[in-house]
Amino acid sequence: MRSPGEARTAVETVVRRAIIEDRDALLDMYQTFQPRPASLGLPPNANVGEWLDRLAGYPSFVAFAGSEIAGHGVLCPENGAGEVAVFVHQDHRGQGIGEKLLRAILDEARRLGLSRVWGTTQLDNTPMLRLAHAMGFVRGKDPCTFHLDLQRAPSQSRP
Ligand SMILES: CC(C)(COP(=O)(O)OP(=O)(O)OC[C@H]1O[C@@H](n2cnc3c(N)ncnc32)[C@H](O)[C@@H]1OP(=O)(O)O)[C@@H](O)C(=O)NCCC(=O)NCCS
Repeated sequence: MRSPGEARTAVETVVRRAIIEDRDALLDMYQTFQPRPASLGLPPNANVGEWLDRLAGYPSFVAFAGSEIAGHGVLCPENGAGEVAVFVHQDHRGQGIGEKLLRAILDEARRLGLSRVWGTTQLDNTPMLRLAHAMGFVRGKDPCTFHLDLQRAPSQSRP
């Protein structure tokens, strides 16, 4: 992970929609993912395959650093809004991958016509809360939640 003030490493990263064939590589990534769980019980310590299978019905994105899966993001739409979750392997954090995944999720949410995207994490998850803030999300009444109203707040592109 990048420490404050440290320069962003230039890494060739590709984000694309997840496909069923990514399951084994995702399992490999989550096998060594730390900390586990990282946010509200996710990714789970056990039965990661079952968790991935439950998520398979939702729009999901994978980030590749070279040929290796470095991150995973999911959008769970319900009642016109969508919950977001982003996981970047610790070997690849601080390189803009979380932002790319979240941006892909926001594009998908707009494509689906969702009015709001939201997420939840612990108050001490500074990386996730700062990432959300950097992408235009605001804190909810419950400060563990963050949300973005899509009609009113287009995502800001990193120059
Ligand atoms: C949260 C997480 C997805 C961020 O992914 P990442 O690829 O490291 O984030 P990025 O490099 O894209 O950073 C984007 C922004 O997030 C914030 N950020 C990321 N890591 C940070 C850190 N360690 N400390 C403070 N802010 C951080 C910054 O605002 C950063 O923008 P900047 O680089 O202009 O300062 C990653 O830390 C992670 O997977 N954590 C464990 C899983 C988790 O908690 N997921 C949340 C589930 S809801």
